[in-house]
Amino acid sequence: MLQGKDLLSIHDLSADEVAEILDFAAQLKVMQKTGVEHKILAGKTLGMIFEKSSTRTRVSFEAGIFQLGGTGLFLSSKDLQLGRGEPIKDTARVLSRYLDGIMIRTFEQEKVEELAKFADIPIINGLTDLLHPCQVLTDLLTIREHKGKNFRALKAAYVGDGNNMANSLLYGAAKVGMTFAVATPANYKPNQKVFENALADAEETGANLSWTENPAEAVKDADVVITDTWASMGQEAEHDARKKIFAPYQVNKNLLRGASKNVIAMHCLPAYRGEEITEEVFENNAHVIFDEAENRLHTQKAIMALTMG
Ligand code: CP
Ligand code: NVA
Repeated sequence: MLQGKDLLSIHDLSADEVAEILDFAAQLKVMQKTGVEHKILAGKTLGMIFEKSSTRTRVSFEAGIFQLGGTGLFLSSKDLQLGRGEPIKDTARVLSRYLDGIMIRTFEQEKVEELAKFADIPIINGLTDLLHPCQVLTDLLTIREHKGKNFRALKAAYVGDGNNMANSLLYGAAKVGMTFAVATPANYKPNQKVFENALADAEETGANLSWTENPAEAVKDADVVITDTWASMGQEAEHDARKKIFAPYQVNKNLLRGASKNVIAMHCLPAYRGEEITEEVFENNAHVIFDEAENRLHTQKAIMALTMG
């Protein structure tokens, strides 16, 4: 179903395709834990273009393609001619002649879309300013593991900046039919167009999506509370100002008192303790947060195997 396709946004996937990725990721995880190899991408090469820093995305994609029998090429935009102004549409057509897939982490979502338009191999979005689909598919796998497969019975809340994580979580929750409440300051809401698209998707699945300025309201009875940095990559200069603006949005013990008794907190990492999450909440949920980090590997192996296989 996904063979040959791009993964630019969860919005582009059908609900069945999301389920297929999660099921296959769970299967690959079991296979890896039990020492069963699956060399479905033997002889294939993934190019990994990075215009921003990364620990998890880089290492999990590179280890993942290796485990599937293929090879990963780390391509820093600083070293590519792309960094000296070669058009993305030329880069796309050249790399399509050498590679079997490209993962790209960059600033503009439009750049990823341009790459996909001109490449004739699958393009995987490894984070843009707008979206972080691989992370959110991973988050859904992690939620499934800790809270069960019946997303429709769950409520998740996101508290903090209306950034790429908030946007992709809206798309992810919409596809799986989960109740999802976002709390951000009024000037830092999720992307308006993303919200509208997610609401349209939610009509088909019955997901209940909402936005509020009030973190306590979003977190009320939530089974899962998710947060992310207040200053994303590229916003470093705003860090101090953002620390003041977002202070009421910290995920701490007091905020979680209003959540479900067995609430779990999640964070895509890197985390800034004392800012978006307290040390205490982070460490109490470390078992979940590091499962979430691990699951990048399994989820992205599924994405690569299904699109590039
Ligand atoms: N969560 C995430 O994407 O981490 P990296 O920036 O380290 O890749
Ligand atoms: N919102 C963060 C996520 C990092 C994985 C950023 O874009 O920097």
